[in-house]
Amino acid sequence: MYAAFRSIGAYVPEKVLTNDDLTKMVDTTDEWITKRTGIKERRIAAKDETTSDMAVKAAEKAIERSGLKKSDIDMIVVATISPDYFNMPSTATVVAHKMGLDKVTAFDISAACTGFIYVLSIAKAFIESGMKKNVLIIGAEKMSAITDYSDRGTCILFGDGAGAAVICATENKKEAIIDLHTASDGSLGDFLMTPEGGTGNPHQNELKAEACFIQMKGNETFKIAVRTLTNDVIDILQHNDIMSSEITHFIPHQANYRIIKAVGDALKLNDDQVVLTVHKYGNTSGASIPMAMNDLYEEGNLKAGDLMLLDAFGGGLTWGSALLPFAGK
Ligand code: UT7
Repeated sequence: MYAAFRSIGAYVPEKVLTNDDLTKMVDTTDEWITKRTGIKERRIAAKDETTSDMAVKAAEKAIERSGLKKSDIDMIVVATISPDYFNMPSTATVVAHKMGLDKVTAFDISAACTGFIYVLSIAKAFIESGMKKNVLIIGAEKMSAITDYSDRGTCILFGDGAGAAVICATENKKEAIIDLHTASDGSLGDFLMTPEGGTGNPHQNELKAEACFIQMKGNETFKIAVRTLTNDVIDILQHNDIMSSEITHFIPHQANYRIIKAVGDALKLNDDQVVLTVHKYGNTSGASIPMAMNDLYEEGNLKAGDLMLLDAFGGGLTWGSALLPFAGK
């Protein structure tokens, strides 16, 4: 049995936060943000809108496009670093309950911006082992809830949103996910972290909101991201004997235009192979790859049989890549 990437869906909140809006909050300019990141605007969830609310909207679209019934889903895995609740219940169980799927296996994973590639690898492994048939994977983030809007080094980057996909068992090898690679280096954990509030640095009496805010060594992370991702995508292509010219869509994590451009250039990709949404959504962490893929789909540019190369890099540190056809319905 193989695992096929059957369908994609996403949700973006209505509220837009532009670079000009940010200039009223911190010492920055539209020119600096555009030049250094490629970001022009990002979406911000409503105050009462949770990560699971966004995840459910993305998931419903993905299921509808898969041709399956909701009741066919036998596992839900959510990648998030901005869960509805600090420890439990998991966002996946909240999503399952909101969708009326109380009996399915449901759990979250924490791999920051690489989350979607990690959940894809989990879906593949469960399906290929025969344990599950139709797995709903989700990347969903309310990054605005864990962002410090007085820190210009991070608040200009992040946005909110969700993306979801249905991964199904298939006997058709042409539909199968070809290869996946995930990795980590915990020695560089302090490059990107929310340092307080957990057992590593507990709050004895009260949990402050700031405890959950992201801190990042931006420039150091940037350099290692370019180097690591370039090696990673070259490796996965070589390992599978596939030329970069054969890739229909390179769908990278949308952290910074300059990182995407550097990796794309190393692979000698044409502009029309590279999927870019960073200008309109910013960095939505684990949601960014499925959100970008969904835009491609809704624009009519993602067809069954198209060969996709995904890559991502984020907190942990974690990184990974995936090579797969879009199976479609
Ligand atoms: O998604 C997970 C992985 N995350 C990433 O991959 C993010 C990687 N990092 C980045 O995208 C970039 O490092 C940033 C966009 C965060 C920063 O760009 P940079 O080119 O690495 O700038 P920098 O941190 O080296 O800062 C350069 C200058 C500094 O001023 P001085 O010391 O040269 O006077 C900063 O204080 O830019 C200043 N600066 C800003 N200026 C205006 C930093 N943030 C801002 C800002 N507006 N928002």
